[in-house]
Amino acid sequence: MSKKTTEYVCQNCGAVYPRWQGKCDACGEWNTIVEEKIGGEGFSNLKPKQKGKMIDFVPLEGAAEKLERLSTNIKELDRVCGGGLVPGSVILVGGDPGIGKSTLLLQACAKVAELPSKPEVFYISGEEAIDQVRIRAKRLGLEKAPVNLASATDIRDIVATLEKSNANVVIIDSIQTMYLEDVESTPGSVTQVRACSYELIKLAKRKGFTLFVVGHVTKQGSIAGPRVLEHMVDTVLYFEGERGHHFRILRAVKNRFGATDEIGVFEMQDKGLVEVENPSALFLAERQGNISGSCVFAGIEGSRPVLVEIQALVSPTGYASPKRAVVGWDSNRLAMILAVLEARCGMNLSSQDVYLNIAGGLRITEPAADLAVAMAVISSMTNKPLPHDMVIFGEIGLSGEVRAVTQPSLRLKEAQKLGFASCIIPPSYTKDKKTSLNTDMSVYEIGNVQRLINWFN
Ligand code: TYD
Ligand code: MG
Repeated sequence: MSKKTTEYVCQNCGAVYPRWQGKCDACGEWNTIVEEKIGGEGFSNLKPKQKGKMIDFVPLEGAAEKLERLSTNIKELDRVCGGGLVPGSVILVGGDPGIGKSTLLLQACAKVAELPSKPEVFYISGEEAIDQVRIRAKRLGLEKAPVNLASATDIRDIVATLEKSNANVVIIDSIQTMYLEDVESTPGSVTQVRACSYELIKLAKRKGFTLFVVGHVTKQGSIAGPRVLEHMVDTVLYFEGERGHHFRILRAVKNRFGATDEIGVFEMQDKGLVEVENPSALFLAERQGNISGSCVFAGIEGSRPVLVEIQALVSPTGYASPKRAVVGWDSNRLAMILAVLEARCGMNLSSQDVYLNIAGGLRITEPAADLAVAMAVISSMTNKPLPHDMVIFGEIGLSGEVRAVTQPSLRLKEAQKLGFASCIIPPSYTKDKKTSLNTDMSVYEIGNVQRLINWFN
């Protein structure tokens, strides 16, 4: 029997098929399956009849090696990484093209290279020529930093070079431009991305350097060659932001060495990315007073509180089926809240278009924003503004009840710091003496959405 030399791989999710088909059964995408040569994957080269060695088992308890983290001097980046860079760890940085990944990593590696302990830093660009990176470094005022810069795409050369170095931090920009000659598919294909990453990760673990890998995001919103890569690395960071806004959010979606959902906030300026110490103040900076349909949500992103303005606009529809448009939040969640308002409170929204916007370009995923969204919709519908100094949080259930959310006192503390004087929150906190809210604000506890409407009218 002749040995199979090709397989068919979905470029979106990495599923493998013995023959071509139009639609990927695993992820449901059309026209993503491409023929690729087998081999060069590292994992599959194991000879079947080799005898294995015995492995040692140990008890769960034991002295763990203390992680000596390397601080990057960029506080927002350190926090997202769980408090600094762990030697031998691999960090995947994903994001849309042009969002600022190269800028962030160039700034980070320059800062690291300038540390007093003089770490060896290597920046390998497969996308830009040396001159382009130099021009950027000059623009950022970093041209004096002792960074080792190269423009290369052949993984074998890169591995051979790094093998001989004493690297502490290595940046590969981007993994989609890298290739291994033994693998016959084109750079950027799932097989190449997987094979190149495997070689780099193996080296990083062996030599003990921190490896940053840049990965572009496909139009579906996942890093190309995505799931395959995400489980190979220790940390996955997404760099997000709206094109029209200056804010950029670095979000940890997976972290073996720290908390996930941690965010770092940056502002893109003409001299590169600048850390934002107080994101709430920034997100609320452009808030107008006395406008209906706007309210402030006290949220938590990772370990820190963030206040954001939620805006809703409800207007009579001109379409047969009313329009719902959402920026920065989950559209299914909005549909659910509108359904609750209709079914439990008798609001008529079926002849109204509803637009929802999280001001400032932040994406919120917390259900704790439900109550604030409902409030914004009610305020816009009745054309009545909320008190300017009020924050809101709480989750809404399908029967219209308002449910408790985590860390109420942290949310209120941040609100108070920024000058807010009153809040609408779920009930049950003050009854329970243990979760004392510890706040001087006026507190309105509201148990269901109907009561919210009554209170507001
Ligand atoms: P870049 O880091 O090249 O994005 P990525 O690597 O994610 O593709 O970001 C480039 C964008 O950032 C570009 O549109 C210009 C902008 N920019 C600034 O606004 N200020 C700066 O100082 C720099 C270097 C870039
Ligand atoms: Mg780039």
